[in-house]
Amino acid sequence: MIGRLNHVAIVVPDLAAARALYRDTLGASVSEPMDMPEHGVTTVFVDLPNTKIELLHPLGDNSPIAGFLARNPSGGMHHVCYEVEDIHAARDRLVGKGARVLGDGEPRIGAHGKPVLFLHPKDFCGTLVELEQA
Ligand code: CO
Repeated sequence: MIGRLNHVAIVVPDLAAARALYRDTLGASVSEPMDMPEHGVTTVFVDLPNTKIELLHPLGDNSPIAGFLARNPSGGMHHVCYEVEDIHAARDRLVGKGARVLGDGEPRIGAHGKPVLFLHPKDFCGTLVELEQA
């Protein structure tokens, strides 16, 4: 059911430093920082030949990643995102197999303007999983 790895998201305490690390030390192509107030994050996209890395930093007072950064002050891997063809069909299949969908279970529009869902990390090997309808 799942398709390509769309991105891996990494929460970082210093976005400028992380951007410079990926650009100058790792030699990757990086975007300018982009504020996404509706998601409570500022993001830098790192373009790799086969996928993307998203560097995330909290934005605003109620950022959904503030708690993660408090628990992981040097940053860390936050989630992986897999592409699916039909997000409602994927959701129904997963719920039918006992997996927990976060929030109200309805897809919402993610950082790329496409419908996304998040799956409970305890049901997926301790990893927060995002599904994005490709
Ligand atoms: Co994501």
